[in-house]
Amino acid sequence: MPTPDGPSAAPSYVGTGAGRFLGSLDVDRALFRYDLAGSVAHAEMLERVGLLGPADARRIRGGLRQIRREIDAGTFPWRDELEDVHTNVEVRLTEMIGPPGGRLHTARSRNDQVALDERLYLRASVLRTLEAIDAFQRALVARAAAERETLLPGYTHLQRAQPVSLAHHLLAHVWRLERDFGRLVDLERRANVSPLGAGALAGSTLPIDPEYVARRLGFDRAFDNSLDAVSDRDMFAELLFALALLGVHLSALGEEWVLWTSAEFGFARAGPRLGSGSSLMPQKRNADVAELARGKSGRSIADLVSLLVTLKGLPLAYDRDLQEDKAPVADALAQTVTTIEAMRGALDDLAFDRDRMRAAALDPAARATDLAEALVRQGVPFREAHERVGRYVRDPHATLDAASAARALPDLGPDAARIFDPAELLGRRASPGGPSPAAVGDQLAHARAALAAHADFLSSLGRRVELIEELLQEEAT
Ligand code: ARG
Repeated sequence: MPTPDGPSAAPSYVGTGAGRFLGSLDVDRALFRYDLAGSVAHAEMLERVGLLGPADARRIRGGLRQIRREIDAGTFPWRDELEDVHTNVEVRLTEMIGPPGGRLHTARSRNDQVALDERLYLRASVLRTLEAIDAFQRALVARAAAERETLLPGYTHLQRAQPVSLAHHLLAHVWRLERDFGRLVDLERRANVSPLGAGALAGSTLPIDPEYVARRLGFDRAFDNSLDAVSDRDMFAELLFALALLGVHLSALGEEWVLWTSAEFGFARAGPRLGSGSSLMPQKRNADVAELARGKSGRSIADLVSLLVTLKGLPLAYDRDLQEDKAPVADALAQTVTTIEAMRGALDDLAFDRDRMRAAALDPAARATDLAEALVRQGVPFREAHERVGRYVRDPHATLDAASAARALPDLGPDAARIFDPAELLGRRASPGGPSPAAVGDQLAHARAALAAHADFLSSLGRRVELIEELLQEEAT
């Protein structure tokens, strides 16, 4: 019976401490679908180049599809002592179909095999993550569209700075997520290269056709360099960076929801999908989901660091250290998708308190920049305007209303009254990309266009993901 040492390896390390230490089944079992599809394509290629007879090729493909049904049905006999998913599948195949099973691994190594599985897994994982981001962005845009007139203080240094609208604020998060979306698209495109045919590190003496396998599996092309193909984990490093930064964005958003739902801010009330109560204090409703989004980002950052440290200093080509690449990727993906979905549910349950937001935004001190700009409109140099308004707003006796401003800053002229008119507060901020309802209207249109543009990539990626499923379902001809 084949073992990870090879078909007739004896003595074997199986059952020794080393065997248990080297095993990776707990983690790489999740790759089985991609491992099987890769093997179906590999077997087709071997048949086409004459390395496998049609009857053996048919039996191999049938066996692989039968294994897929066993795994889905939960009847597949997983064996820890067979080290990893690749060996489990190959051993089971040979049990099922006999000697032809021993021909599948022709001109292939687990080194190019695992690299292939990982790229197919990446493809499906990126699709799932993109769909989650897209749905969350749509929810944020829908909430924003209803809040163009809702005044909110904008902050710098967490000090009230200038008024904005709630719509403008929510859309700022949509653009962060849009860059996260774009990063995942970019890295998936770069990763869409098949490593199969690189063998252990130096290709094969047999007449294989890596381009055939690449096309069959929906890749753009096959690798250029076999040493690079088996050792390249850039796609996982890029993925983990994209997920870490996405986690940072979700964490920052979560922090705002924690602040907003506090009694001190009171900008929003938390519904049940934002969190639970306290087991001790009956009055509490904590923003647990937002807090946990903040907390999980630490894990995603750690996952990125974990992989980079693993990769650092590895000599070409394959090194067993690379086996440690899968756990951080699986962890970061699972955390990210569940965090986005939980945040989306929490957003639906977040009731904004427009009156509290408005009252905070009407803080007259936050009108200082407008006063200075009104002086500029009257011809006063900005530096001088800044200085004069600064003196006015810091004066403890100033009441900070239209009448007192007109007295303290006579050049304001008729503008003084308008600056303190709440109805004009937002509309005035009409510069492009700013918070005025008109500018936010343009911004909403841009955001909707960006969301509409997701569809093309999502559907082409979806088709490439489905290809894997089709390879496992097709009847052997
Ligand atoms: N479990 C291994 C990994 O994930 C598969 C490749 C093993 N290759 C080898 N030469 N031992 O990297």
